[in-house]
Amino acid sequence: MEIIRRSLELRAALEDVRASHSIGLVPTMGNLHAGHMALVNTAIARSDVVVTSIFVNPLQFGANEDYGEYPRTFQADAELLNAAGINIIFAPTVDSIYPDGQENKTCVSVPTLSGILCGNNRPGHFDGVATIVAKLLNIVQPNDAYFGEKDWQQLTLLATMTRQLNIPVKIVGVPIVRDSDGLALSSRNQYLKEAERGIAPILYQTLIDIRDAIQDGTRNFHSLEQAGSVALNRAGFRAEYLAVRDSRTLLPPDTRPAPLRILAAARLGKTRLIDNIGVKVAGSLGSS
Ligand code: PAJ
Repeated sequence: MEIIRRSLELRAALEDVRASHSIGLVPTMGNLHAGHMALVNTAIARSDVVVTSIFVNPLQFGANEDYGEYPRTFQADAELLNAAGINIIFAPTVDSIYPDGQENKTCVSVPTLSGILCGNNRPGHFDGVATIVAKLLNIVQPNDAYFGEKDWQQLTLLATMTRQLNIPVKIVGVPIVRDSDGLALSSRNQYLKEAERGIAPILYQTLIDIRDAIQDGTRNFHSLEQAGSVALNRAGFRAEYLAVRDSRTLLPPDTRPAPLRILAAARLGKTRLIDNIGVKVAGSLGSS
């Protein structure tokens, strides 16, 4: 396994490989856990050569967010990736990624999808994500890029970005990896105090309850969303949003049959948790 810190060096390392091997990219911000490793292992199974990037991207953190305290554990990450059998870690510096400064960068912005749900509570976040991922895709030029369904809105937005910008890459989604009590694995879970960690799985349970109600025939999504938010707040969360959406557009569903996704973000103390779950619905979504 090679550790590469400069874009030009990475390009050179991949130059000869490219003609005869497929390249897979797994973008991460490090502090790797079993959720990230599911992406890595999927990439290893599907792509000949796997590049994992580790870069805590300042552009996607708001002024009051946790950029400074975001856990950086490069040595442990490198050991995990080496044991898994990836080929290259790409770990650039902030200055090399934004050589003209963060104010003077060219920015990629995906309309609509970047302003709703998480984008509503984190202004600028998805422009930061789209910009860094566009740059990573240009630097690595992979055949496939792997992203977790844990960040469903991010996955949807990046698939839209690559389609609209004609970036020749396949975006591959990987299912959410959860703890045994249902909590979706996240680097931010380590911010939770012990009592909060006990409450945290209620977020997933609330999504399951709403999914089951829809699958049992309830079509008043608004009242399900409201009841879910009340349940979360009662349990000790501060719900930011809880929404039943068309899983592809992330807009409120109309009455035509379409796969749905229930998405939520809620704060527990100072920790912001997100989660989502799919719903399969047969027939019309009209109110009953
Ligand atoms: P990060 O939070 O490090 O996550 C990297 C990838 O791992 C993302 O695609 C995310 O969806 C996936 N992931 C995290 N937890 C997961 C879980 N429990 N199950 C499945 N997949 C999981 O997401 C980012 O970094 C950044 O926004 C990035 C795309 C790297 C751009 O900076």
